[in-house]
Amino acid sequence: MDTVEVFNGIRFPGFIHTQESLRAACSFLFQDKDILLVTFPKSGTTWMQQVLSLIFCQGHLWPIHHIPNWQRAPWLEQSNLVKMLGSLDPGQPRLLTSHLNAEALGPAVLRSKARVIYMARNPKDVLVSFYHFHKLANFLPDPNSFEDFVDEFLEGKGFFGSWFEHVKGWLGLKPDLNMLFVTYEELHQEPRTTLQKLSDFLGHPLKSEEEDFVLEHCSFSFMSQSSMVNYSLVPKEVMDTSRGRFLRKGVMEDWKKHFSPEQNEKFNAIYQAKMGDLGLHLPWTMD
Ligand code: A3P
Repeated sequence: MDTVEVFNGIRFPGFIHTQESLRAACSFLFQDKDILLVTFPKSGTTWMQQVLSLIFCQGHLWPIHHIPNWQRAPWLEQSNLVKMLGSLDPGQPRLLTSHLNAEALGPAVLRSKARVIYMARNPKDVLVSFYHFHKLANFLPDPNSFEDFVDEFLEGKGFFGSWFEHVKGWLGLKPDLNMLFVTYEELHQEPRTTLQKLSDFLGHPLKSEEEDFVLEHCSFSFMSQSSMVNYSLVPKEVMDTSRGRFLRKGVMEDWKKHFSPEQNEKFNAIYQAKMGDLGLHLPWTMD
């Protein structure tokens, strides 16, 4: 189950990726109406897929209750893409998802006017969430130790590549794309304002009661119970839910319960070296 597909020097789980599917994603023909969600894994992808589905569902919960997230907003690089695209509602803009970096997917997106939502999360929380996900997902190898996992993450050698390059690469394309940069932390701390920012960007403004409806159905408690987004539909051989939950904690700064002072210091030094000169005001604190 935990086979590996190496593409552009980056490891992807072989379970759902092939060389062909990864290559096809890089030359995907976007339509101008497409909405592409891009994330590094564990940055709140599923959460944003739910928000986007809710923005466009016009108050009808049928898709939320009956269609899994991977079918509502399929991953471009996965081998089931063609099948998934075939089941999208032709009356709605296509919601698409990708974990590919800007180097791989950027050229294809740049050829269109598709709207891109780039969602980022405090990398320390990404790391912790990813560490637990490696235990749950049988298509990823079991992590040796948290210590090793931190080193691999900092070196950018883990699955899906370097978090630093992912964020920097996509931000570098922002001036040339129709892109909204949004964070997990913003959605957590200011859900309504963030939802308004999203719906404005998507040209789909919502009334106040529609916002209430979206916020209720994208809450951690609702999503944890929903088999359409909590991955309970996936067979145990793929995700072993006896070893954890996909919607694990859904909080900010869980890293503080995992990092030793030494790991934190090492992380901060590398973060500063790689991200310090960007002049970005990212809504997370590193201490
Ligand atoms: P944790 O492991 O820290 O709990 P992705 O979908 O990119 O794989 O990200 C998964 C992370 O997003 C998990 O983080 C998950 O709990 C969190 N998440 C998903 N839905 C959420 C929600 N409604 N509110 C807060 N966090 C959510």
